[in-house]
Amino acid sequence: MSKVLGIDDFFYVSDRSYDLTAEKALPHYHEAHRLLVSCLPFPRDAKIEVIDLGVGSGVTSAYVLKNFPNARVTGVDLFPEMLDEARPRINPFADRVTLVQSENTKFLASAETKVDAIVSAFCIHHQDEQGKKDLFAAIQKRLKPDGVFLMLDWTIFNSPHLHKIARENTMRHLEANVSDTAYREKWAYHWNYINIPSSADEMVAWLNGVGLPAETVFRNLELALIGASASPSS
Ligand SMILES: C[S@@+](CC[C@H](N)C(=O)[O-])C[C@H]1O[C@@H](n2cnc3c(N)ncnc32)[C@H](O)[C@@H]1O
Repeated sequence: MSKVLGIDDFFYVSDRSYDLTAEKALPHYHEAHRLLVSCLPFPRDAKIEVIDLGVGSGVTSAYVLKNFPNARVTGVDLFPEMLDEARPRINPFADRVTLVQSENTKFLASAETKVDAIVSAFCIHHQDEQGKKDLFAAIQKRLKPDGVFLMLDWTIFNSPHLHKIARENTMRHLEANVSDTAYREKWAYHWNYINIPSSADEMVAWLNGVGLPAETVFRNLELALIGASASPSS
């Protein structure tokens, strides 16, 4: 497993500003969440069990809970501060959601019960290559046959030219949508020096490598939605 980051690596955890600026700073934040939920291949009334890795302030979980009224969600996050941020948002669904303070891979490895879906938004880029591979292996073990994994995240391009275009687009979005200079600088620092994004192609290959057939199902410059499904024999 890769180094687990501490609270000092997450400015928005220590100053509790995630909800204040994330939806503005992150390009296509809500559209991307809607897309993720629309890719969950279950009837709306299905009684599905879902794990949300890096639940943060609960936005991803709330999208799942709202769109699947019989879903049960377990939201996992490293920091109690973020779980506190999530509580008001998920309160309307309190009887269908459990929040757990844990590192994602450790949480997945701590039990064997299998779930219908594992989702994660804007989180997995905090792991290095080995950390991502370990996480993907742990995800594979916790999915039911035909279970799905959907990850929405920052990615990089193999082509330096495309990488530059995509990065500039992200920075332009930040500039245009976050008016507070101090927060713009904090997000830019976090993205440039704390995040460890990988290319979508590499992550797809690592998922395939642990027995989770995967593909990039949607992409918009640095953002990618990657989907993987457990095969019935796993
Ligand atoms: C950018 S926020 C995303 C939150 C939410 N999914 C969203 O889309 O708004 C990333 C969250 O992942 C959590 N996180 C990062 N690495 C983690 C890990 N290895 N295990 C558990 N949580 C982690 C952070 O504490 C943070 O709350």
